[in-house]
Amino acid sequence: MLASKNILLVIGGGIAAFKSLDLIRRLRERGASVTPVLTRAGEEFVTPLSVSALAGTKVFRDLFDLTDEAEMGHIELSRSADLIIVAPATADLMAKMAQGHANDLASTLLLATDTPVLVAPAMNVRMWDHAATQRNISTLKADGIHFVGPNEGDMACGEYGPGRMSEPLEIVAAAEAMLADGPLKGKRVLVTSGPTHEPIDPVRYIANRSSGAQGTAIARALAALGAHVIFVTGPADVPAPGGVEVVQVETAQQMLEAVETALPADAAVFAAAVADWRVASASNSKMKKTKGGLPELKFAENPDILASVAQMKKGRPALVVGFAAETDDVIANATAKRERKGCDWIIANDVSAETGIMGGSENDVNLISNSGSEDWPRMSKAQVADKLANRIAQALA
Ligand code: CTP
Repeated sequence: MLASKNILLVIGGGIAAFKSLDLIRRLRERGASVTPVLTRAGEEFVTPLSVSALAGTKVFRDLFDLTDEAEMGHIELSRSADLIIVAPATADLMAKMAQGHANDLASTLLLATDTPVLVAPAMNVRMWDHAATQRNISTLKADGIHFVGPNEGDMACGEYGPGRMSEPLEIVAAAEAMLADGPLKGKRVLVTSGPTHEPIDPVRYIANRSSGAQGTAIARALAALGAHVIFVTGPADVPAPGGVEVVQVETAQQMLEAVETALPADAAVFAAAVADWRVASASNSKMKKTKGGLPELKFAENPDILASVAQMKKGRPALVVGFAAETDDVIANATAKRERKGCDWIIANDVSAETGIMGGSENDVNLISNSGSEDWPRMSKAQVADKLANRIAQALA
């Protein structure tokens, strides 16, 4: 997918810049050519010599380098690329992008371009969490800029949290997904996945056995067909796929908010095993054993995310796909569920313990639409995902 693609790689000033050297190698291994642009701050972390040696070409550094302007102006430099990757993207660089500044080569290229842009942020967790950075990210997302990461973990500055730049192979996967030339290119597809966790108190929660495997496979398959996938996931066992926009949530309420923020979309697939109930008033402090007896939990009903999107009066995705996890009368219950929720298709599966489906690697499903029920043979979750992604592509064509 990256063979003979031209990638302009903007390396910002952050400790994660060392990973960008490996990123250059990974991109070139896949047949891409990499034109590196190093910011002034970036030069403090990696040398122009090592960048150009790995890229096998000149490093662009200065806006006012007249030779470069004579050879190739900055407009041309940005437009001749198939994709621009900004890695690491610092808080400062993203702020400039969001505000439209053009006071150095990197920001000027990013303002002058009409090429898709992929940003891999890297910064201290507090800078990431800061309202200004989050505001800039929302602006950039609304401008159509794609993001990969950041990941959560130990940081070079000694703190822990989101802010670590994605690994080179994750960035490569995201780039591949953006350049994928499939039938879903240009389509925006929302996928919910995984369980939700509903807190009882700060240390306890109610959950279910969903691993997130089926939703993850669907997101991956849709991205491989060229879709821009927004993957809203609860706390799953399997890692999120590369090449999709990941939004991590815990509770059903948060999942609904993330889904509403992600819309509009051309299609939406609701594979999450959302908890139907939450504890009505979760305790803010840890509940203690008392001599007086057992605690009593009162439940409140969670919003039905699928039904609320399927029944939207304005801006409803053209195709809304739900799942029906059933243990009895699978087809009859799923058919009724499709009507009740107002979605176009339901993927019905039998999640009785003896099927081994919930948490397993295989699935046995029926696709239920307004033209009846279609029985798919038992196959791997990856194969179900591929088949479904292809059906979605046909339906949106
Ligand atoms: N779903 C949702 N929000 C909820 C509950 C379910 O979006 N609060 C979605 C699931 O992602 C799935 C579909 O609705 O696509 C059906 O989920 P399922 O658990 O099978 O159905 P329920 O709504 O829980 O119905 P029932 O309790 O009758 O089985």
